[in-house]
Amino acid sequence: MNKIQSLRGMKDIKDDNSQLFTYFIDNATKIAKKFGFEYIETPILEETALFKRSVGESSDIVGKEMYQFIDKGDNDVCLRPEGTAGVVRSFVQNKLDRAGGVYKYFYYGPMFRYERPQKGRLREFHQFGCESFGESNVYEDANIIIMISQILDFFKIGYKLQLNSLGCKDCMPSYKEKLVSNLKELNLCEDCNRRILTNPIRVLDCKNENCQAQLTNVPKITNNLCQTCDDDFEQLKKILDKNNISYEVDTNLVRGLDYYTKTAFEFVSDKIGAQSAIAGGGRYDRLVEFLGGRSTSAIGFAIGIERLLELIELEQIDEEVLYIGAMDILALDTVFELVASKRKEIKVLSDYRSRGFTKHLTNATKQGATKVALIGTKELEDGTIWVKDIASNKEMTVDLEEF
Ligand code: HAM
Repeated sequence: MNKIQSLRGMKDIKDDNSQLFTYFIDNATKIAKKFGFEYIETPILEETALFKRSVGESSDIVGKEMYQFIDKGDNDVCLRPEGTAGVVRSFVQNKLDRAGGVYKYFYYGPMFRYERPQKGRLREFHQFGCESFGESNVYEDANIIIMISQILDFFKIGYKLQLNSLGCKDCMPSYKEKLVSNLKELNLCEDCNRRILTNPIRVLDCKNENCQAQLTNVPKITNNLCQTCDDDFEQLKKILDKNNISYEVDTNLVRGLDYYTKTAFEFVSDKIGAQSAIAGGGRYDRLVEFLGGRSTSAIGFAIGIERLLELIELEQIDEEVLYIGAMDILALDTVFELVASKRKEIKVLSDYRSRGFTKHLTNATKQGATKVALIGTKELEDGTIWVKDIASNKEMTVDLEEF
């Protein structure tokens, strides 16, 4: 019988990767909480209309990549391709837009996009994201960017920050008009010609070299912002400068989701191949309204966990791991009791069999133990335990009571 395989572009998170995964979630959670974010979990399956209205009909995600189907109750549903839409749906559904105030949520979990799989691009991938509602001040934009950089710094990940402003409902439409009249003069690819009609700013980040070569002289959004958007963008850059966050303004950075207004950013790494974005986000001051709520300022981001894990070394997890083993069948009970009691303090590995010294040591190091403690007949008689520190190679025999 042929064995069943996981679907193309979908992977198990296991072994070293699962250690890194939980290490990342634990520490990113701690940082998000320090910044005042609380956990939210929204369903993986939502009405298709939610993503059409938020991510946008003109986006590749909605146009080509949705895991969409009709369920047994005849509902048009879809596996979430991203996390923001669900959080905004929940925000509006729970009438927080009417209550007023500031709300901050973080989440992590699987997202689904039917893309062509390649290195760093999966069909099921995981994101860690944050969404902040009710704060229109540009300090919040800086706060979000500083938080991402703290997360990346914690995991010792080098990055470049690309920054842009996409304007607001006052300046974006006139910019789009100006852009379209310029784009119509060019000889662009089929996708771009379609985007001119649906969402012209998406032409700016076309990957086709022929298109990019022709785009150098088209008007730039940052030269066409209204006074408020321009002032805000200038202030954001000043705050980032003061807080030692380096960035590059990339006027072609438009992001692949249609809900952004004003600040948009991406954190990229040159160490993970063509799919270089490790995190992306920005302001989406109109999305709450688009989903039927009262106009509410909002900003957020998501980190692609699989891409990020490519950049973390296993050695970074410097947690203490104790291995306790019995070298005589008579020591098994004592070892079992010790293991249970030590587990109240630290991570402890063990083996239910009595084994020789070398076998235990090999077993312990293979599993990543930092300290090994063994009890044989001699130790049992003396009421002691033999301990070895793996890194320093130091060995000693200590009193069991003391241990
Ligand atoms: P996004 O840029 O589409 O933004 O995705 C965020 C991150 O998810 C990317 O930077 C990348 O690291 C990762 N990612 C995206 N697609 C894939 C894939 N096929 N395979 C592996 N990793 C992938 C959003 O999803 C927005 N919801 C972010 C946001 C939150 N904006 C405001 N709030």
